[in-house]
Amino acid sequence: MTTPGEISLFSETLISSKPKESLPAGFICRPLYRSDYKRGHLGVLGDLAHIGDINEETWVERFDDMKKSNGTYFVLVIVDEKNDKIVGTGTFFYELKFLNNLGKQGHIEDIAVAKDYQGKGFGTILVHAVDSLGAQLGCYKTILDCSEAKRGFYLKCGYEGRGLEMHHYH
Ligand code: ACO
Repeated sequence: MTTPGEISLFSETLISSKPKESLPAGFICRPLYRSDYKRGHLGVLGDLAHIGDINEETWVERFDDMKKSNGTYFVLVIVDEKNDKIVGTGTFFYELKFLNNLGKQGHIEDIAVAKDYQGKGFGTILVHAVDSLGAQLGCYKTILDCSEAKRGFYLKCGYEGRGLEMHHYH
């Protein structure tokens, strides 16, 4: 349940209980809150890619845009409750298709665990928690792109390699 006084990006009931129960004591997995800028959300993401010049106001604007997008964006965090600090984050979103009988395809994006907390199973728990949203929201499959260096991690999380990523920067 959302902490009283907090604004949650989506309903916590969508996160399956299994990954949540795998967390060690003192850690919780929950949806992103509108107050999470101060808990170090960008610091954790910064290990993944360039962040840019974002302050709390612009971070909150992006949160509000995601929330207004009618159940499209699902950002999860793992929080170290003792230190009130975010130690991991991951994003799920889905696209509506005409293919596959008007299917929904899930996407996993922006999985990151704070450096000091890597190698303790948090990344796996995040992927399983984010992946469970796909099942819960009725997606027929969930896909992700990653570098060759991260392939082994996603294989251990139960993902299989298929196809080839192509991209074009704008
Ligand atoms: N290659 C191969 N195996 C790996 C790798 C890797 N790069 N990283 C972790 N593993 C293995 C671990 O050794 C462990 O194996 P074990 O179960 O046999 O002990 C298993 O994967 C699970 O490891 P976790 O402890 O759950 O992983 P961790 O919490 O360290 O998180 C993560 C992994 C998310 C990749 C972390 O290193 C990180 O945040 N890196 C920087 C950001 C990043 O690159 N994120 C992925 C971007 S791709 C995307 O978002 C779709």
